[in-house]
Amino acid sequence: MNSAEKKQPAMTTVPAFGPLQGVKVVYSAVEIAAPSAAAIMAEWGADVVWIENTRTGDSMRDTTHIKELERRNQRSIALNPFTDEGREVLLSLIADADIFIESSKGPTYVRRGITDELLWERNPKLVIVHVSGFGQYGVPERVNRAAYDLTVQAYSGYMAQNGTPEQPMAAVPYVGDYFTSLMVVSSALAALNRAKATGEGDSVDVAMYEVMLRVGAYYLMDYLNDGTVYPRPGARHPNLCGIGEYRTSDGFIGLCVYGVKQNKYLLERIGLGHLWGTEEYPDDTSALWLDGPQAELIEAKLDEFCLTQKALELEKEFSGVGIAANAVLEFDQLVAEEHLAQREALVEWERQDGSPVKGVGIFPKFVRNPGQIWRPMPDLGQDTDDVLAEAGYTPDQIAQLADNGTVRRS
Ligand code: COA
Repeated sequence: MNSAEKKQPAMTTVPAFGPLQGVKVVYSAVEIAAPSAAAIMAEWGADVVWIENTRTGDSMRDTTHIKELERRNQRSIALNPFTDEGREVLLSLIADADIFIESSKGPTYVRRGITDELLWERNPKLVIVHVSGFGQYGVPERVNRAAYDLTVQAYSGYMAQNGTPEQPMAAVPYVGDYFTSLMVVSSALAALNRAKATGEGDSVDVAMYEVMLRVGAYYLMDYLNDGTVYPRPGARHPNLCGIGEYRTSDGFIGLCVYGVKQNKYLLERIGLGHLWGTEEYPDDTSALWLDGPQAELIEAKLDEFCLTQKALELEKEFSGVGIAANAVLEFDQLVAEEHLAQREALVEWERQDGSPVKGVGIFPKFVRNPGQIWRPMPDLGQDTDDVLAEAGYTPDQIAQLADNGTVRRS
């Protein structure tokens, strides 16, 4: 075979599918909060370019299985954007991108000379999303801090609402990160919608603690407006009877008793039917408040009753009369659920080495433009050549960038 016949490795091109086909996303971030937003967009058909540092790559690579879910459908370029040459490469990558997402402590990019204005000079329509723990401005000492799920849950008042009266607890797994991811997806697409209408991009300042402030605002409203602070509820609702996780003879059940007919049924079933239709609990009682006259008795009787029941049987009985109830499923029960099988909620695909990996499917299900899994997580810098060639770099220029450490190939 002469050199002309030598086959060049085929370029990896993103197949056309999903509601985000044609949308190009470039991101530089580690772990979950920002990257999982890009992961969702990749599942919905976006062309996602994942910028990793040239030394060790994204720290997510240290995990065994979750990385396969959070980085599937993506292309990896290992690049240091914080040198003159690296900055120029970054600008070439975003020149035809729709969305650029970065996550770092405070205004890291501005400090390193990569301002929004510089990015817009190259691409005026670009939607830029800055993800940080505390935002791009505010009290400098706070803005510059490192942040992870746990610390933003602690700062935002979210953690103080979870756990027992004695012990605040973080909600797991990594809800501060995953809520942020959803906010990044939605705000990026909102800004993109506007950019498409006006031809002008936007810069979105996503502070993780503010995401938690927004999703944790329910009881904060009571505090802000009348000073009410509810005790941390543990396994129970802070102000209603019949809502919480109750122990059964074989496990736990999650109950959410609410509504007139539901309350009547519950009281009768736990042996307190005589309370119904009284002055204390008139026959139109829709909420069994925890500060109600017989709340303690109702909770005690419900606890006692649940202990005599099997979780799945009680779930069936209560569901049959319109009470929202679910046995608390352990993972082994969850994966055996016929409902999940019918909806193909759990799927299998291949890792880069061809071995199988199981994980969750792509949600939600777009009926006309479904998402798909087209590619496993790539190796560090696996797509450096392809991505740079697309951005207009010649093989010689790419080799030079690799030689001087601006980029790394796999
Ligand atoms: N190539 C070379 N250097 C890079 C790089 C790249 N592609 N990307 C980042 N760097 C640099 C950073 O500028 C930083 O340099 P500095 O220490 O001189 O300022 C250094 O590498 C470390 O990067 P950073 O990502 O800030 O790592 P960290 O370990 O100091 O902090 C976080 C990690 C996640 C705590 C921090 O980035 C952060 O608070 N991010 C915002 C919130 C967030 O996303 N948290 C994680 C949720 S899952």
